[in-house]
Amino acid sequence: MTSPFDKPTIESRLSVRGVKWHRDASDIIPLWLADQDYPICPELKQALREAVEEEYTVYASDLPAREAMKEKIKRYNSIDVPVDQIMLTQGVIPGMWLAAKHACRPGDEMIVTDPMYFPFFTIADVTQVRKVYWKLKLDEGYKFDIDRLNDLITPKTKLINVCNPHNPAGRVMTKEELKGIADIAVDNQIYVMVDELWEDILNDGRKHVSLASLNPEIADLTLTSWGFSKTWSVPGLQAGYLACTNKTMFESIQAISQGILRGTNNFSKAIAPVICGGKADYWVRDLNKYLQEVRDLVTKRLTEMGDITVPHLEGTYLMFPKFNYGLTSVELNKVLMKEAKVSLNQGAVFGPEGDGHMRILTATSKNIMNEALDRIESIIPTLEKMK
Ligand SMILES: Cc1ncc(COP(=O)(O)O)c(C=O)c1O
Repeated sequence: MTSPFDKPTIESRLSVRGVKWHRDASDIIPLWLADQDYPICPELKQALREAVEEEYTVYASDLPAREAMKEKIKRYNSIDVPVDQIMLTQGVIPGMWLAAKHACRPGDEMIVTDPMYFPFFTIADVTQVRKVYWKLKLDEGYKFDIDRLNDLITPKTKLINVCNPHNPAGRVMTKEELKGIADIAVDNQIYVMVDELWEDILNDGRKHVSLASLNPEIADLTLTSWGFSKTWSVPGLQAGYLACTNKTMFESIQAISQGILRGTNNFSKAIAPVICGGKADYWVRDLNKYLQEVRDLVTKRLTEMGDITVPHLEGTYLMFPKFNYGLTSVELNKVLMKEAKVSLNQGAVFGPEGDGHMRILTATSKNIMNEALDRIESIIPTLEKMK
């Protein structure tokens, strides 16, 4: 039987709605947005069907969803958080803003990594907090250098933003790296916002460790967030949580959100028990197995086709290769779009360290991926000439 992950074709993807496949012309293969090409699992489809049949569109409590989340957070993340200290959010991004509003005042400083998922930078800008770059270096395997972080801390540092697994570096933090962050945060009493959206997209048998599970002291300073978007192929439903063991901090976050954020939709609430209850975990296992095969395929082909450095993808389905042709990512993007007919993400949007890189989504079928790679390979002579 064909794997559901192997089924997508260019034609089948063009036949459904969605910004990824329809932003650009139809002859372009889109591997820019972090949106899977895979179907949603049957259990989720069934729960959604039932919610529609029931006309579950009334005002509804979010308690069953939060109870399911509490169990998941205890089982998977080893954090024991009271159910009334879990907030249902529209995805993960509102949590970044709430964390900044809680922890910082205009003129304060927040730590962001460079590179990093760029909405963290936007949040710094809109909250008038100065972003301080914690550099992650390609030639160091994107290790999280704790001494480098320590050197950035000043009396104005109020928030450390952590993305683990990391978009776009593809790293899964080691326990030692997390412990290093925890020690600095606790010693200096700095809040930490942890975006764990990719926590279950892991390669090579890696295990996810949540920062807040390390000890009660760091848990007290940490806001942990997760959402359904990336694992379950439902980014259009916009659902996630913000959780924290510190009641005072949680109440402050609630007060800031009052009247602005109103949880999420009932369809997301309806699938929360399925997602968090573990019954569909087989799907995540199969997904990770397939994704790892695609990662290996992309790593091999990119490395062999030209002067391209491919960081090892430990987690997420976003690869961040560097094209060593002396071009900026804006210039690379132009050639890739015009001549290869492939749209990727420009590395520089993820911070200065990302320039010369392109981010490639790997959550597609091998068939689509091979076609995209053939197209990328075809422009290597052009890139050589531009060197
Ligand atoms: C690290 C990270 N955080 C947050 C988001 C946003 O997710 P959502 O739309 O569920 O808020 C993304 C989306 O790709 C992401 O990669």
